[in-house]
Amino acid sequence: MEQDQLKRMVAEAARDEVLALPAGQVLGIGTGSTANWFIDLLAPHKEHFAGVVSSSVASTQRLLQHGFYVLDANAVTELPAYVDGADEVDPSGYMIKGGGGALTREKIIAALAQQFICICDQSKQVATLGKFPLPIEIIPLAQGSVMRAMQALGGNPCLRLIPGASNPFVTDNGGWIIDVAGLHIAKPAELETLINQIPGVITVGLFTQQKADVLLLGGPSGVKRIVYS
Ligand code: 5RP
Repeated sequence: MEQDQLKRMVAEAARDEVLALPAGQVLGIGTGSTANWFIDLLAPHKEHFAGVVSSSVASTQRLLQHGFYVLDANAVTELPAYVDGADEVDPSGYMIKGGGGALTREKIIAALAQQFICICDQSKQVATLGKFPLPIEIIPLAQGSVMRAMQALGGNPCLRLIPGASNPFVTDNGGWIIDVAGLHIAKPAELETLINQIPGVITVGLFTQQKADVLLLGGPSGVKRIVYS
């Protein structure tokens, strides 16, 4: 089965899961190709929710095209659930996110949610995080110092560029992204705290405080539902 079919399958499972929530609440929705499937599949049922909060300009545009009522994250104090993809998920539900560059807003909205429902195809499940280069959103002025700090931690940092161009990819927040390859992340929670303390770091794409509560994992034999404690 192709990866895109698996993404659609987990998005369907997530749609069914959120439609089982009591009606009239506000739902958090993430960013990326799996989240896009989720948005498209949820659209016919949008009236089940009072509105949605989105983690990127791209997702907001897609949601508005479907006629969802999109609220600012500041307008809510709590969400029953946040549904989003991931780049890697480990056996504890810790994740690497930010492949699409939306990590900061994703983390903010995930922190508002009672549960993070992660939707992934099986290629994202790993024993140890770090094969996928770790995204870090930074203040542009800190590019050099953050890259040196990541080299000192044994990583191979690279400034993310706009595909096919030589200028930096700029996030929805005006930040830049450094992708750090070569990290074998044995202690994700410690590394998240450490990197967050480097001056100029806006957000590191390690999600341990905001880990997955439920993982809907798509494989050839169907969707596996994993619940983390
Ligand atoms: C965006 C993300 C995405 O959730 C992650 O990159 C997975 O994307 P996709 O669903 O396209 O595989 O973190 O910042």
